[in-house]
Amino acid sequence: MQKNIRVRYTLQLGMVAAICIFSFMNSSAEGNNDTTVDPLNMGLTPDAEKGLDILMNVPMATPVMKEKDLERLWMVWDAPSKLMAADATPEQRHDMIFDRYGWAERVNDTTGLPLGYLPDGKGNLVTNCFSCHGGEVGGVTIPGAGNAYIDLTTLATDIRKLAVLDMGRDPDKVPDAMAPFKTPLSIHRGTTNAVVFASVFAGLRDPERGKLYTEHPEELLHHDMNPPAWWNYKKKEMIYADAFAPKTPRQLMPFAFSPFNSLEKFYSFEENFVHIQEYINKLEPPKYPFEIDSALAKKGQIAFDRVCSECHGTYGKNPTFPNKVIKIDKIGTDSRRLESIYLKDREATNAGWLQYFGEYPVLLESKGYLAQPLDGIWATAPYFHNGSVPTLYHLFNIDERPAVWKRSDNGYDNVRVGLEAESFDSVPETNTDRERRLYYDTSVVGSSNQGHTFPDDELDEDEKIAVLEYLKTL
Ligand code: HEC
Ligand code: HEC
Repeated sequence: MQKNIRVRYTLQLGMVAAICIFSFMNSSAEGNNDTTVDPLNMGLTPDAEKGLDILMNVPMATPVMKEKDLERLWMVWDAPSKLMAADATPEQRHDMIFDRYGWAERVNDTTGLPLGYLPDGKGNLVTNCFSCHGGEVGGVTIPGAGNAYIDLTTLATDIRKLAVLDMGRDPDKVPDAMAPFKTPLSIHRGTTNAVVFASVFAGLRDPERGKLYTEHPEELLHHDMNPPAWWNYKKKEMIYADAFAPKTPRQLMPFAFSPFNSLEKFYSFEENFVHIQEYINKLEPPKYPFEIDSALAKKGQIAFDRVCSECHGTYGKNPTFPNKVIKIDKIGTDSRRLESIYLKDREATNAGWLQYFGEYPVLLESKGYLAQPLDGIWATAPYFHNGSVPTLYHLFNIDERPAVWKRSDNGYDNVRVGLEAESFDSVPETNTDRERRLYYDTSVVGSSNQGHTFPDDELDEDEKIAVLEYLKTL
């Protein structure tokens, strides 16, 4: 999809939005290896345009806030930000609000609403997939790119503070908002604890799977995740960072597990997901918008094909993609994601509606991470499943990966290729929790930036530069 949207986006879903996210858990032995499964399309002809229309217009989750609150959220900000907002013009204030929550502007927009937030016709806003899966890259909205700026916790906290203010109480006493069972919505700006909070919602909601998490909420293994680009969905046999779930319309639905939607209502959305899946399937990666040194890129391709293609495939005329999951011991990136979905939850989901009562099961065990397709990789920073590395340059040079880094509001670094970011040895002293979240801290559990030593081990310095150039062409 081209640039129908240009957002700056942000999104966050209130906790409800939390609804989103995917599925988690599921289980099953082998995973079937069909890709998109036609018999699951409910007799419909999947229609990508319809899918986009649904994503832009059909509310399926429950309200996160009142539409009119959008312009009032600044009233509960910390004092310096609030003063600035009070003195700002309406346009400036709009930008401040969008920047704070990491919202993307819709393109050609007349609503003033962020991408991923829909009116429900009753004065409320409802979030959807684009809150995490519609991102701005260098200030330009790219549908299907992960939102690298989202700050879900800040949004949910401010919404709660506004409610407290409206009750005549002191909003400054309100702690960070969480999902049920003290589940953080996000630990860092730009990533979310989506796998765990979605699991919690699903466990709470689905009678066929029981109230799993009410039994052991304290054991939840929280960790922030980076949403993958949707345009690579078509190349995958199985989806998610560990390739543990089949590609079906239902697999895309857990986000709608709002505790307030009736089960009938939830099931009635299935048709929508036939079209949403088609929209995702038809997305193409965006082209690198800056200059490329094609002679250098050609050299890079040779080194890439020697070292990288075995796992990441080949690109160009007749592309190949091996769909390889690399064991955690070999890849060495953060392991928490592999441990956070318990066996009993995988088994439970496999028995239920989401997995077609065992017909399209998830894997019972996650052994490692999928070597991702690298199409449009220039636009998908930060890198790795946990978004711990801000640029491709840092991915290639392990010793230079920052222990702590902070992204700019929407700058793109076309030298290092990825997010414009400042590096730190440790998190500087901050005044508020929100400020602390602006620093990606790789010492936080689940946030390690280690591993994937292949470029360092097997490319010389010149080859690294050439491969970096080649990656811009994918
Ligand atoms: C709160 C943020 C958030 C929302 C909202 C959200 N997702 Fe995701 N999505 C993620 C994250 C994070 C992952 C990566 C999870 C993983 O790999 O374990 C993901 C993974 C996926 C994937 C797997 C892609 C791949 O290539 O492996 C698909 C497909 C997907 N989401 C579709 C959706 C759809 C459809 C919706 C809305 C109905 C949605 N998501 C809503 C955050 C979100
Ligand atoms: C042995 C298999 C293997 C080899 C060889 C390999 N990679 Fe990877 N690569 C992976 C895996 C697995 C991941 C996912 C790691 C994670 O997210 O935790 C990955 C992730 C990446 C990412 C980040 C993807 C994203 O969406 O965040 C990039 C970029 C990348 N590799 C580039 C390369 C390049 C360039 C080479 C060659 C110099 C290479 N890789 C060699 C397995 C491999």
